[in-house]
Amino acid sequence: MKVAVIRRASFNAAHKLWNADWTDEKNKEVFGLCANKNYHGHNYHLEVKVIGEIDATTGYVIDLKIVKDIIKNEIEERFDHKNLNLDTKEFADLNPTAENIVVVIYDLIRAKLDAKYELFIKLYETEKNIVEYPVK
Ligand code: NI
Repeated sequence: MKVAVIRRASFNAAHKLWNADWTDEKNKEVFGLCANKNYHGHNYHLEVKVIGEIDATTGYVIDLKIVKDIIKNEIEERFDHKNLNLDTKEFADLNPTAENIVVVIYDLIRAKLDAKYELFIKLYETEKNIVEYPVK
């Protein structure tokens, strides 16, 4: 019997959406306000969903402290209060769209989570703009 457990987290970060192969005009045309040269910020909210069997001895799928610590070490310490374009190696050459951020977050957490669990990430860039990875 599989159950999903979800841990929420959040981090604040600045970014700019930009394709260095394009002119300033083309970037502004495609990315609009998100291409603002001096960056802008978001309060990102994260839902980390872990799916697995209930352990008969603990009654847990996973101790949520483990998930909390992975998020803290891999995501919050890396991205919270950072400029994603300038301060992180993950987005030095990768446009920090919500789509790219959710895939990076998945990969970072996946690398630390026991392979027996399924993992799904939902990232809220705003209340109305949400991305999920992987897609079922
Ligand atoms: Ni933005």
